[in-house]
Amino acid sequence: LSRERFPPGFVFGTATSAYQVEGAAHEDGRGPSIWDVFIQQPGIIPNGATGEVSADEYHRYKEDVDIMADMNMDAYRFSISWSRIFPEGAGRVNQKGVDYYNRLIDYLLEKGITPYANLYHYDLPQALEDSYNGLLNRRVVDDFAAYADFCFKTFGDRVKNWMTFNEPRVIAALGYDNGFHAPGRCSNPFGNDGMNCTAGDSSTEPYIVAHNLILSHASAVKRYREKYQATQKGRIGILLDFVWYEPFSNAKADVRAAQRSRDFHIGWFLHPIVFGTYPRSMVRVVGDRLPKFTNEEVEMVKGSIDFVGINQYTSYYITDQHIKNGTVTDYQMDWHAGFEYSRDGKLIGPQANSYWLYMVPWGMYKAVTYIKENYRNPTMILSENGMDYAANITLPAALHDTKRISYYRSYLINLKKAIDDGANVIGYFAWSLVDNFEWRLGYTSRFGLVYVDYQTLKRYPKMSASWFRGLIQRKSH
Ligand code: GCO
Repeated sequence: LSRERFPPGFVFGTATSAYQVEGAAHEDGRGPSIWDVFIQQPGIIPNGATGEVSADEYHRYKEDVDIMADMNMDAYRFSISWSRIFPEGAGRVNQKGVDYYNRLIDYLLEKGITPYANLYHYDLPQALEDSYNGLLNRRVVDDFAAYADFCFKTFGDRVKNWMTFNEPRVIAALGYDNGFHAPGRCSNPFGNDGMNCTAGDSSTEPYIVAHNLILSHASAVKRYREKYQATQKGRIGILLDFVWYEPFSNAKADVRAAQRSRDFHIGWFLHPIVFGTYPRSMVRVVGDRLPKFTNEEVEMVKGSIDFVGINQYTSYYITDQHIKNGTVTDYQMDWHAGFEYSRDGKLIGPQANSYWLYMVPWGMYKAVTYIKENYRNPTMILSENGMDYAANITLPAALHDTKRISYYRSYLINLKKAIDDGANVIGYFAWSLVDNFEWRLGYTSRFGLVYVDYQTLKRYPKMSASWFRGLIQRKSH
């Protein structure tokens, strides 16, 4: 495996997100996001961990960019913290927050690394949650578009690759169905995951939130296209997570169940964006609880991507029976709809540290090929892929991450096979550059190509980092 075996111009990079790596949560005028508030609930994050310091990239971005350059990376996918720029979510701009992203972007470019900026990675300004229930309220569409517009105007002379939202399905399902993520609203807790549920109605709220996210995405894209794209000459897309759902058997019911799961997972967003409507199976199952797009909205949503980012890590089996065991809402929203065992009782693939992550390289091929075949082969970027080790592994053993190298190798081989078979994939981002704050798992999970000692914040590139350096070799531009 080497860069030459991928199409010319294929981009290699790593990905992170603001709350997970930046730290400096209260510095230079940043306002709180819903994650700053969510994590304060006692017992919610292992060891009471927070993102206050995390990997401290806010202060160490130069070191991190130097490490990327050393790995021969072409690109860096980071996210902008909305509440660093607009501490109240709208209105007043915090110049110091703007300055930070200017420094980061300028230093990336100085080192020959292309910035890929994502506008939203789970971190809604708390002020908007407080004033109008955040993503549940249609008002968020205009506030998001105004924030996005400001970013295009301010950074778009240098940022040519924009993403509106990371994993809207996760935002809707984990934030509003099982309460696993901020703001933790749910009436449908899944086992212990949901034990911190606050108010909420899982039968309707996830659909409302998803609808508002789609409209927010589309109105930001509209602004970009109308005001900036012609002069700035960039492209804009959205980031969708895609677990591959494999039917448990060839029985028709299982095959249909797997298809429904794909509809409820990626079709929920990609179907409106490509075709202007929700998938038919969703309309059938969800009925009146599924919001409707007006004709004008269909116009705005349909075709609202220049590319789609796919976050692909794992695969599950699906049976009709399994789905019947849950309530309708469980099945619609929940990753737990999938399960890990084949009919002969074998795991679908070896488990990484995270309970949800089974290593299934062929799932990469199937997921990418599925999008090619069902969504008109859009321009795709494989925007996240990776595996984690448990955090209690210490130095120097933590640096010998040979399992991670075989994960990356086998997934990339499958990605390449999908590309060779015609999938229009133009780039690949490993999750993640550095170890970081893994949401509800706190610091008990290490996804980085670079080890972070959380006491000293010193960085130690792992074997996987050298493996990537070798794979990528020379920059193609
Ligand atoms: C997500 C995010 C990342 C995660 C990564 C590993 O999937 O929730 O995009 O923030 O850290 O996927 O779980």
